[in-house]
Amino acid sequence: MLNLDFVRGLFPSPCWERAFFENAGGSYVPNSVIERVTAYMRESQVQPGGAYDASALAAERMAEGQRLMAELIGADTDEVIIGPSTTTNIFVLSKAFQDSLSSGDEIIVTDLDHEANNGAWRRLAGHGIEVREWKINRETEKLEAEDLAALLTDKTRLVCFSHCSNVLGGINDVGALTKMAHKAGALVCVDGVAYAPHRALDVKALDVDFYVLSLYKVFGPHVSLLYGKREHFERLPGQNHYFLDDQIPLKLNPGGPNHEFTSGLVGVADYFEALAAHHLIDPPNTFKGRVDAVFDLMAHHEEGLAQRFADFLLSKPKVRLLGPKTDKADIRTPTFSFTIDGRAAADIPPLLEPAKAAIGQGHFYAKRLLDALGITDPGGVLRASMAHYNTMDEVDTLIEALDGAI
Ligand SMILES: Cc1ncc(COP(=O)(O)O)c(C=O)c1O
Repeated sequence: MLNLDFVRGLFPSPCWERAFFENAGGSYVPNSVIERVTAYMRESQVQPGGAYDASALAAERMAEGQRLMAELIGADTDEVIIGPSTTTNIFVLSKAFQDSLSSGDEIIVTDLDHEANNGAWRRLAGHGIEVREWKINRETEKLEAEDLAALLTDKTRLVCFSHCSNVLGGINDVGALTKMAHKAGALVCVDGVAYAPHRALDVKALDVDFYVLSLYKVFGPHVSLLYGKREHFERLPGQNHYFLDDQIPLKLNPGGPNHEFTSGLVGVADYFEALAAHHLIDPPNTFKGRVDAVFDLMAHHEEGLAQRFADFLLSKPKVRLLGPKTDKADIRTPTFSFTIDGRAAADIPPLLEPAKAAIGQGHFYAKRLLDALGITDPGGVLRASMAHYNTMDEVDTLIEALDGAI
């Protein structure tokens, strides 16, 4: 069991002045990250890679941040790009990919996902590429494998989908879907942004070609990680300065990584290590092993929170819960979006403010999904998204405030 007092003690205390349920928008950052960023800027605020001591220290700290985040997801260090955001990482990837496509080639995108793994690929339609849409099944409110099967052809080059919806919380079987795409001769680009803060990840086991996540939602600073198989990074044309074309992964990261934030990523590893040291009786002897064990504790705790909240939402006849109607950790993350009959979404969050409960409202850049689900409220939907550091008391605070508002 997670010791929530210990967990929350690792964050700045103002975090706990409200019951915070907009974690899918961006998670809280523990003190360890703030300290690593500060230490970098205090002690090594110079260009990395020079022969003098502060510069060598800067390079070492950045390399360590990149190495640890690669290990966290089961990748090798040079298969990981630390870029400004998932949107930018995928945009650059799409530019690189464009050159390897010929007129008539096909790309599959969904109407369920955040626009980041969508719009950049859809724009390739202007370059003679056929973009096909894998549509959400409106009955089950998820993407169905048989619908993907019907779209795959011998011309499909890439399938873009998410590991988890940032609105519905439902988890896709990435391993099985990737197998299907590979069998048809296509690569996959998976948006793992909404999955990565909640569950252990092994990109090699999943056999994905590209996988992207926003580290500012995984308790880190505002940067994003793009994983790509080395063979793809080698083959794709560089999008950085021409003389960097042989430098993997820098060739696909124009401008290079943010120095202090890449260094600050070591603080994310510190956080997982602190949780492992406190909770695990027999800690695995690798960093990755300890991270995975900590994620198991997080998933277990989140499932308890999800159960309480799902029960509440499902007990309310006026509430329409979107996505999986369950709390089960293998089916959903604790991200709940819903509408309330007869109420505009935008009216609800201010009603929760006196109780100091914060939830999200809008389309969360998954506008196509809301359209597909027939949501006509211009204010979109309400979203309560939890993280492992939320307590049951906070969920009860939210439930009481929401109940009043409903
Ligand atoms: C599922 C998902 N994908 C992509 C993004 C975009 O991430 P970024 O802000 O790093 O561009 C988000 C951000 O909310 C998201 O939730």
